Amino acid sequence: MAEEAKRMAAYAAVDNHVQNNQAVGVGSGSTMAYAVDRLAERVRLEKLNVVCVPTSFQARQLILKHGLNLSDLDRHPELDVAIDGADEVDSDLTLIKGGGGCLTQEKIVAGCAKRFIVVADFGKDSVTLGQRWKKGVPVEVIPMAYVPISRTIATRFGGEANLRMAVGKAGPVVTDNGNFILDWTFERAQNWREVNVAIKMIPGVVETGLFVDMAEKVYFGLESGGVTSRVPQVN
Ligand code: 5RP
Repeated sequence: MAEEAKRMAAYAAVDNHVQNNQAVGVGSGSTMAYAVDRLAERVRLEKLNVVCVPTSFQARQLILKHGLNLSDLDRHPELDVAIDGADEVDSDLTLIKGGGGCLTQEKIVAGCAKRFIVVADFGKDSVTLGQRWKKGVPVEVIPMAYVPISRTIATRFGGEANLRMAVGKAGPVVTDNGNFILDWTFERAQNWREVNVAIKMIPGVVETGLFVDMAEKVYFGLESGGVTSRVPQVN
């Protein structure tokens, strides 16, 4: 059910937001695998001229596997659109990302795009962050600083910030950038805009998995089989 919902959301985003002669940011994760399938299909059928900028090793592999044009931010510093998954989306379209550990490159690529479109299944649609996603906010950190950063986050914002450990390898997860990840399980709702900036200012923090005011539209694949989309509410 969730797989079909991911596929539906990914296909809708690619169909509605990718056009000929575009530079496209390609996000990471299992939902994005469906988006790249669809992108490759459209490139083949419609003979689209599209270049793809990856957000991770995994995204780069997907681009290469499908024979799509691989580029980078040196050659394409301005992207027409970036499409990416999310771990949780709240009612303001604030996102938690980084469940797959790719948050830093994902935020860089999204920040270079004129439009940032998110694809997700129904299980990620929350009113407030933490309602459904229980693993916390990922924070990428320089390895030598992980203990002081963990302590600072817990002291200032509550909860716990734990080093993410690898599966199938002894020791911590090492990101595509050679860094560690702390997963901050927070205890209460916060002002995410302020917390994002405050955590980023801690020496040794590379990036947070909080994406505030970045998503232009989120496509959710529904349990019932359809797709719905949401844009930020105007306050
Ligand atoms: C990776 C991410 C992914 O977009 C996020 O984890 C969602 O992944 P999936 O589509 O597999 O559920 O942020 O860093």
